Amino acid sequence: MTRITRRQFHTSMLGAAAAATLPSFAGANTTPVLRAREGRARLAPSEYPETEIWGYDGTVPGPVLRARQSERISRRFQNDLPQASSVHWHGIRIENGMDGVAGLTQAPVEPGEEFLYDFALPDAGTFWYHPHNRTYEQMARGLYGALIVDEKTGAPEVDFDEVLLLDDWRLTDDAQIAEGFGNMHDWAHAGRIGNWITVNGDGGWSREVPKHTRMRLRLVNTANARIFTLEARGMEGWVVALDGMPLVTPQPLGELTLAPAQRADVIVDVVADEGEEAFLVSFERDDGYAIAAFPVASTARQVRLSAPDALPPNPVPTLGPLETAERTELRMEGGAMGGMRGAMMNGRMMGMRDMAAEGKVWAFNGMADMGETPLLEAALGDTVRIAMINDTAWPHGMHLHGHHFRQIRADGTVGPLRDTVLMNRGETVEIAFVADNPGDWLLHCHMLEHSAGGMMTWLRVA
Ligand code: C2O
Ligand code: CU
Repeated sequence: MTRITRRQFHTSMLGAAAAATLPSFAGANTTPVLRAREGRARLAPSEYPETEIWGYDGTVPGPVLRARQSERISRRFQNDLPQASSVHWHGIRIENGMDGVAGLTQAPVEPGEEFLYDFALPDAGTFWYHPHNRTYEQMARGLYGALIVDEKTGAPEVDFDEVLLLDDWRLTDDAQIAEGFGNMHDWAHAGRIGNWITVNGDGGWSREVPKHTRMRLRLVNTANARIFTLEARGMEGWVVALDGMPLVTPQPLGELTLAPAQRADVIVDVVADEGEEAFLVSFERDDGYAIAAFPVASTARQVRLSAPDALPPNPVPTLGPLETAERTELRMEGGAMGGMRGAMMNGRMMGMRDMAAEGKVWAFNGMADMGETPLLEAALGDTVRIAMINDTAWPHGMHLHGHHFRQIRADGTVGPLRDTVLMNRGETVEIAFVADNPGDWLLHCHMLEHSAGGMMTWLRVA
């Protein structure tokens, strides 16, 4: 059995999880502000200095935004950063103009300027928000937060509902965010992998719980590039939703893999005894690290509750017939050890060396970055198939904006609704979705150095 330790230093940091504030909906004319600004956070143990970060409202993570399904969220986004930014509401099947993609759905919000985001929430579930301009730098500096949409009816009964944002930081010896965001080695390999893991901005996240407590844990991978492999210890339960979308049948919780941007909602019961601890464990090679701890100090009830029901489904349209659906191929190329010789860039063919000089090392269908023409154009309501072929030596987490898709498995059955899918090297993954949301939507790798390095395309729903 793997030995489980704290990562590097075991410092139990009490309380002080995230500064989680509930948005206020008071006053119809006063739209609450969401401010991106510089701040400080205690990411590392107390013998280190605080870390200078960029955060929404100056904190890491930013405030938990919370509303009920079919309500609207409005935020006056103010950019007090020294860099242009924007806010993308990841996983929300949102109207196109609110999707927050600088350069595609809106102009970047310059320093000192603001932008009003106001949108409906069709689905209940676990979502999140982050910048969509120089994302590889801005997220690495701490800009992200959770967006939780509560079920209109049929929410599961739990003792605690806990949002856990998992992040991977690259810190210097004095616990500051390492520069080098444009490091081409990172870009051409696995992305910016860090050396310090936090949960809700805390390197030793902990919460005391009674035995047989039932918790809904909302896990979000907010890292630039790290894939988390997780297991629970001293807790047993079920995965009830992925990427915000309920599973038809809750799945027993075993090993859980989360690519960047992926989410899982799990319902767990604490089964560790009083005086013990339950853990969320992250595996790296052969080592397991407790990244969140639940010390057990009392007993909530003598026996476990019975298994939960599935969460109520979200109103996502059913796929049309797959045989007649239009099918597009997307060949993913480039990166280190990928053998790519060159690609189209800004309308002309370029060799790898010239591409790399401009920071581009990946391509989709022989084209680095978004071209003038979309990968595909779909008519509103069409069922669309995209076969993504990972012809690189690296895993990628492919994310589609504005829609959730299902993977078409080799046997013709379809997988659960997702907005991000992890693809291993050499793997082909075919997805299908109903193009029911008009506008121009990104399809990109959510390993942020990869998308910045060229793994980005778009499609049009007209
Ligand atoms: Cu989480 Cu294109 O974004
Ligand atoms: Cu990638």
